[in-house]
Amino acid sequence: MNTSLLHEIAERVGTPCYVYDADRIRANYHALASAFPGAGKPVIHFAVKANGNLSVLRLLRELGAGFDVVSGGEMHRALRAGARPESIVFAGVGKTDAELVDALAHGIGWINVESAQELRVLSDLAVAHGRVQRVALRLNPGVDPHTHDYMSTGKSGTKFGVEPATALDLIARRRAFPGVAIEGVHFHIGSMVFEPEPYLAALDVALDVITRARAMGAEVDSLDMGGGFGIPYTADQVAAPVAAMAAALLPRIRAAQIDLHLEPGRFLVADAGVLLTRVLYTKQSGGTDYVIVDAAMNDLIRPALYGATHQPAPLDPPTTTERRAVELVGPVCESGDFLAHSASLPPLTRGQLLTIANAGAYGMSMASNYNTRPRGAEVMVEGGAWRVIRPRETLDHLMAGE
Ligand code: LLP
Repeated sequence: MNTSLLHEIAERVGTPCYVYDADRIRANYHALASAFPGAGKPVIHFAVKANGNLSVLRLLRELGAGFDVVSGGEMHRALRAGARPESIVFAGVGKTDAELVDALAHGIGWINVESAQELRVLSDLAVAHGRVQRVALRLNPGVDPHTHDYMSTGKSGTKFGVEPATALDLIARRRAFPGVAIEGVHFHIGSMVFEPEPYLAALDVALDVITRARAMGAEVDSLDMGGGFGIPYTADQVAAPVAAMAAALLPRIRAAQIDLHLEPGRFLVADAGVLLTRVLYTKQSGGTDYVIVDAAMNDLIRPALYGATHQPAPLDPPTTTERRAVELVGPVCESGDFLAHSASLPPLTRGQLLTIANAGAYGMSMASNYNTRPRGAEVMVEGGAWRVIRPRETLDHLMAGE
């Protein structure tokens, strides 16, 4: 991103601040859409949990994306961003009755059901509201996606989805659920997946369920493969090879004559965002160099939560080749409040600006007010100009309703 624009943003909007690049989001969307070609398929549903800012959602909607939501709140974000209700997929292991009724009332395209009980509740609610809701059953395909434990959802024994045998049992008994039409299967094996193999293994399981369902006369014609495509956070990582993944997956999907849906989050927005932060202080403690910045774990929790790497870099080019291994930490009163461990950085001084890379996904959307810290502003850069797409929170926001 343009350095002088970032300087201007830091001066005018303050720090910490998330800055997103609209052109990068567009390029990411086109890269994924062209990797999976074919008459309007797959349908890309952006995972709103990765970045729910309405301006980001509007941009993706204009590109043709639908939305994957996991709460009533996310559903209303997508609707408010102008999404057609039919373009929304509602997943999640614990939807409340109120959320289901809300989704029925709004004519949401798909509800991805994650348990036998949920199917019963949804069917009854739909009957009471005079509707037949289209659903996909979320499968737990029992596949190891080789990622961080907290990002692994498709292994046997997780809380997500139903086992294939349960899905087939529900499909066999589908007439007992008159409020729903089971037209699809869904899986999401996890996040930060780099290999085609786990997707292929999960596809096997899903195709087997679809074949057996069709043999029972059920019209199951849709497969939602979830999201999870990895992006490089460290120098030794490379982006998930989506074109190669598509080449491995698509022939089998076409042969089975099913519509493909995807739910990427990170792949579309992560590298389009930086977290802009300013050095507050530098100090030494027990031989360790600390750089204390104004962004903290409440702004970007991924390092603390997953041990994730987000490369920090000074906004202005360093004037020396000297590098030091520093602990980059925030003001929050927790030893786990760090943005980077042993980051190799040039000598930094109070007031200097840093960017924290790849912060466009699961940055602001996971931010909190811990330590009664207002969440930072969000800014969109587009065509050489920038605009605030969410102002910094104020003291009034922090204490509203108390
Ligand atoms: N679909 C479902 C059902 C999901 O649960 C998720 C992510 C996605 C799609 C999008 O996954 P993506 O393409 O962004 O990998 N907060 C974490 C990752 C956990 C995401 C949970 N579900 C992070 O900061 O990395």
